[in-house]
Amino acid sequence: MCGIVGYNGKNKAIDILLEGLSNLEYRGYDSAGVAIRDKNIKIYKAKGKIINLKEKLENKKLNGTCGIGHTRWATHGEPSENNAHPHISNDGNVTLVHNGIIENYQELIQKLTKHDYKFYSDTDTEVLANIIDYYYKKYKMGPIDAINRTMVRVRGSYAIAVMFKEYPDEIWVARKDSPMIIGKNDDGTYLASDVPAILKYTNNVYYIDNLEAACLKKDKVIFYDLNGDVIEKEIKKVKWDIAAAEKSGYEHFMIKEIYEQPEVISKTINSYVKNDIINFKECGLNKRILKDIESIYIVACGSAYHVGVCSQYVIEELSKTPVRVDIASEFRYRKPLLNKKELVIIISQSGETADSLAALREAKKMGVKTLAIVNVVGSSIAREADYVLYTLAGPEIAVATTKAFSTQLIAMYLFAIELASAKRRIDKKEYSRLLNEIKLIPGKVQTILDKEIKRIQKVASEFYSVPDAFYIGRGLDYAISLEGSLKLKEISYIHSEAYAAGELKHGTISLIENNTLVLGIVTDEEIYEKTISNLTEVKSRGGYIVTVAPKKIDVSKVSNYKITIPETIKYFYPSISVIPLQLLGYYIAVSKGLDVDKPRNLAKSVTVE
Ligand code: F6R
Repeated sequence: MCGIVGYNGKNKAIDILLEGLSNLEYRGYDSAGVAIRDKNIKIYKAKGKIINLKEKLENKKLNGTCGIGHTRWATHGEPSENNAHPHISNDGNVTLVHNGIIENYQELIQKLTKHDYKFYSDTDTEVLANIIDYYYKKYKMGPIDAINRTMVRVRGSYAIAVMFKEYPDEIWVARKDSPMIIGKNDDGTYLASDVPAILKYTNNVYYIDNLEAACLKKDKVIFYDLNGDVIEKEIKKVKWDIAAAEKSGYEHFMIKEIYEQPEVISKTINSYVKNDIINFKECGLNKRILKDIESIYIVACGSAYHVGVCSQYVIEELSKTPVRVDIASEFRYRKPLLNKKELVIIISQSGETADSLAALREAKKMGVKTLAIVNVVGSSIAREADYVLYTLAGPEIAVATTKAFSTQLIAMYLFAIELASAKRRIDKKEYSRLLNEIKLIPGKVQTILDKEIKRIQKVASEFYSVPDAFYIGRGLDYAISLEGSLKLKEISYIHSEAYAAGELKHGTISLIENNTLVLGIVTDEEIYEKTISNLTEVKSRGGYIVTVAPKKIDVSKVSNYKITIPETIKYFYPSISVIPLQLLGYYIAVSKGLDVDKPRNLAKSVTVE
């Protein structure tokens, strides 16, 4: 979950490292540090955000052109300067930054202690610096040998960048189950845990695989396998645009990304719908494969899981295929019963979420076909799944997802329609009707952004200090309530819960008192009266009700305040109703003066269990 960056080339490394770390801050922001190679290796660290590190470095003359940097999301040991990376081996022979978790670090500390190694931090990372140093000195066979022996010895996940005292013009890297890319241009070589860190300098990247290592020289990168043999890699072009990774005048990335939604939804639709026909050929999925699928398991975490919950309703209704949705951290240890005619769908923005990746591997072990819905090209989940549908959200920087969520929904709607068509559960007319409606979603999202902002800001300014909020709905409205509630709690720190509207009175309604904020999502014409009854029950107990509903559904009797959304076909309402919920979460967090893009305790891309 931490961010790693490195540079070796012609220019001053410190500027590139600090800029890269700032672009990676969404991956962790407890503490940060850099190591710059001049004649010697100089290390600087600061607790807290990158700005603290920048202040510390203000008057330092750092001319070195080779260095590594790190922004931390603490796992082992509190956020402090002492625990911040880079870490060094006892005699300074090895300097290292690490992303991931070393599971057997206690055992390794015991081993190294017997060889007189001492430890100054509470991290699992420091042991890596020392074990590399240990193998380097014991076998005297150079960096690749020391790194490969370390990879065989440690358990866990890691992306590491290492500088050896005796190899001044090189940075060594290795990875297993933690993301890392390597970039190259005429000015040098770059490494990063995520594309936005180096996008300003290059979009030519190498993807380094699990249990591979590389040496970054000033003008080239040499890759090695676990045997120490050199391997060839092709350089790939990242299609992301640098502007997408910058704030471009917006106050926060989150609001910028909310506003980008019409565009990225269109892009995602257009990449799969050609001449009014859904085309999944590029990802290898065809009608014959789809026809044979008997049941579906959707597995994901957080908001991506909520996309799964929404999709369950749509896929089951359109294609009459049974769907189960599971949280990846549960799925991976549940020993799920899967059969060969099942399809496991993993949804993930980053493509690196540890639990989702593990769930994918579990499914593959059982010989089940897997489909990944992923935003980051070349990510682990994208590379390991049998089929991949990419969402075209572009880089998502705010920790709370918005645009990736919206594009994941689109990918899943298209999948549901194509599946229903392959199984002949819908005719051509229905197919066209659904596709035509999907194409209208971007415009409808834009309408909310154009017309409802003031009304949403008003609710936010009145309710930003409430202790609790509840989101209720039925069917797809319940599914989107889950996302609305998460959006609020994760960035505003207001306790909030999502409930199936009919379930509230089985216990939770006892929490409703005078002025408790309750969001009622009411878009489904078939069951809206039931939800209205549930909202009436809440209102008569003093709840303050904000409804999100299209004009044609009359919610006037229960609403204290109504947010009107454009109409669509019932399956696609999540794409529309989520927008005011994202905006409400955002404006409440802004009203509270919180750091919206980097909420406390969180980090984007959860690469640890
Ligand atoms: C919430 C949020 C998280 C992610 C979750 C999965 O706003 O962003 O709940 O949805 O951590 O992440 P990915 O999609 O990268 O697997």
